Amino acid sequence: MKMSVIGCGYLGAVHAAAMAELGHEVVGIDVDAPKIANLAAGRAPFFEPGLGEMLTQVSASGRLRFSVDMAAVRGSKVHFIAVGTPQKHGGNAADLSYVDAAIDDLIPYLTDGDLVVGKSTVPVGTAARLAKKLQASGTGAVLAWNPEFLREGFAVQDTISPDRLVYGIDEGTADGDHARAVLDEVYAMALSKETPLVVADYATAELVKVAANAFLATKISFINAMAEIAEVTGADVTKLADAIGHDNRIGRRFLNAGVGFGGGCLPKDIRAFTARAEELGRGESVAFLKEIDSINLRRRQRAVEMAIQSLGGSVNDRRIAVLGLAFKPNSDDVRDSPALDVAVQLKGLGGDVICHDPEAMANAQTKHPQLSFAASAVEAVTGADAIIVVTEWDEYKQLDPAAIFALAAGTLVIDGRNCLDMSAWREAGWEYRSMGRPDREQALVD
Ligand code: UDX
Repeated sequence: MKMSVIGCGYLGAVHAAAMAELGHEVVGIDVDAPKIANLAAGRAPFFEPGLGEMLTQVSASGRLRFSVDMAAVRGSKVHFIAVGTPQKHGGNAADLSYVDAAIDDLIPYLTDGDLVVGKSTVPVGTAARLAKKLQASGTGAVLAWNPEFLREGFAVQDTISPDRLVYGIDEGTADGDHARAVLDEVYAMALSKETPLVVADYATAELVKVAANAFLATKISFINAMAEIAEVTGADVTKLADAIGHDNRIGRRFLNAGVGFGGGCLPKDIRAFTARAEELGRGESVAFLKEIDSINLRRRQRAVEMAIQSLGGSVNDRRIAVLGLAFKPNSDDVRDSPALDVAVQLKGLGGDVICHDPEAMANAQTKHPQLSFAASAVEAVTGADAIIVVTEWDEYKQLDPAAIFALAAGTLVIDGRNCLDMSAWREAGWEYRSMGRPDREQALVD
């Protein structure tokens, strides 16, 4: 099929390349000229495992093009909207200006029977409004909402083999039937592998996405709340997570306590959901998400306070190696990153902070040029009074605590992701502290 993908960020670039890989003829559109130049040259404009290889492969096939000019969508019969919906400045709601601009710019090129497929995460009610806009355009184009559940770091795999497909369509109408038939053709490969498919109305499809992210955020904040209790009782939250995770109804995944969730989705999606529910007069239904957000933000604070306390009441002029800046491993994304926040806070408190991340240093530097960076983890820890691990990259898990001990000036390591081998680090002489696990001299409640 001939298709366009409007917006070539983490979502759109991977979607465009994956659709071409599956045999479709794709044009990717973005207003960011350097990004388009990179993509057109077969280079991934951000770090995402497997994307570079896939781009090189499909670019050679001639099935994948990129352009800054919306006119390049001419001839495509399916148009994916994959632009960002960031948090509005000064508020919790989602900023839909990019979605509206994409649709407005696309309308002049739409022809009868074209399918416009929303993939961006939007507040419930947006699709119905956009469907009316398309209807009013007189182009004869039809709208579907098809949320995307890809995880950064696994985006290629998640796009080629999604764990489920959701079509939000105008059910029970000829337009709805047309949308479904076209989407079945787009996703023929996944459907042939019996990928579960849920066909629903627009509102359900929109809500599926925010509900899924709200649930995941709740799971993480739940275990982080347990970590807070563990910290005052001498309990070990990782063992607690293992034990409750054995219950299949609960499951162990997304129960890793630490400095909490970040990224371009979870934080802003729960805030936008709260704002939308309030607009709908149902604020109380998801008021708990505010608590989920607060628990999450408290955890990075906890890591900073642990550093202050362990360094004798101040981080001023103390050399602190911050290992990790990305919001999670296998990503260079620092949007709403707890790791970057911890680094910035420690620096703001007068710490002599030296950061390292295998992939995210360039993005961190653009956002926070006041930070200092080391070329390697070993360089960062050399001469450090304390080490704080805030993104669980494999390379940090594999650090040799004995070798590092000889290089550092101090003996404090704070494991902000509970990812290091606690016994090995303690045996090597480190004062090892973590999130929700007992310290050696644990202050127990009376
Ligand atoms: C998320 C959703 O998983 C995905 O389905 C949706 O499409 C986009 O948002 P992503 O932002 O890539 O994906 O990250 P995810 O893997 O969900 O992790 C989010 C954050 O939670 C990270 O900062 C991660 O470190 C943190 N996390 C995750 C925890 O703190 N503990 C856990 O147990 C799991």
